[in-house]
Amino acid sequence: MAEKVVVFTGAGVSAESGLKTFRDMGGLWNEYAIEDVASPEGWRRNPSAVLSFYNERRQAVLAAQPNAAHRAIASLEAKFDVVVITQNIDDLHERAGSTNVIHVHGEIMKARSSVDPSLIYMLANPTIQLGELCEKGSQLRPDVVWFGEDVRFMEECLGHFSTASRIITVGTSLTVYPAAGLVKKARFSAEKYLVSLEAQKVPYGFRFLRGAAATVVPHVATCWLEGRKPV
Ligand code: APR
Repeated sequence: MAEKVVVFTGAGVSAESGLKTFRDMGGLWNEYAIEDVASPEGWRRNPSAVLSFYNERRQAVLAAQPNAAHRAIASLEAKFDVVVITQNIDDLHERAGSTNVIHVHGEIMKARSSVDPSLIYMLANPTIQLGELCEKGSQLRPDVVWFGEDVRFMEECLGHFSTASRIITVGTSLTVYPAAGLVKKARFSAEKYLVSLEAQKVPYGFRFLRGAAATVVPHVATCWLEGRKPV
């Protein structure tokens, strides 16, 4: 049985692909108010503004390419049973070749019904426009989890975190719950790393590897594939 590796990622893993993070200098939440573009209330108030925000982000994702961190994570599948648990709504992990990716905050390349969350559609066009409806006649919205909405696959993710023998957390500020709470489920005996440019808090038992994802993650992956410890 291949060893289980959980790779838990946030916006920082895609920063070097040109996608903005949320809370860093120049991050999205410095430009936009969360309650306007990432909440059910904002959607009710001004769906057109919300659609434009995600249409713009989707254009950026379509123009972006996976970076060395995404590729290194995919390369681990050669030796390990890898589960990528991501807070990101971009598809760069899949485009880099990762085959087992769980998006806990949704996926920007998909749309969903405003009245029935189970009605999810792959997007044929790079934008969602007002007037585009689901099969139940409701306005289509981005398939993204907004603040105040239920995060997905948490039971499954808790199971993966509590059974992994290696965990690497990359490019997340660990400030948004319940996703940030997953790191607490890691086994004491697991080999655990946190990769980030900076870290306000390093979860118990995790070793902090300061640096850019596209530099540090390939190093960790090479070491693991060669049977060595990264530090
Ligand atoms: N390499 C590694 N880490 C990086 C890099 C990089 N090139 N660039 C930035 N970082 C780090 C920052 O230091 C920060 O700790 O990535 C983290 C990004 O944090 P956030 O912007 O808070 O993003 P994230 O943790 O993914 O946000 C969680 O919040 O807004 C919601 O739903 C949204 O999924 C998102 C959630």
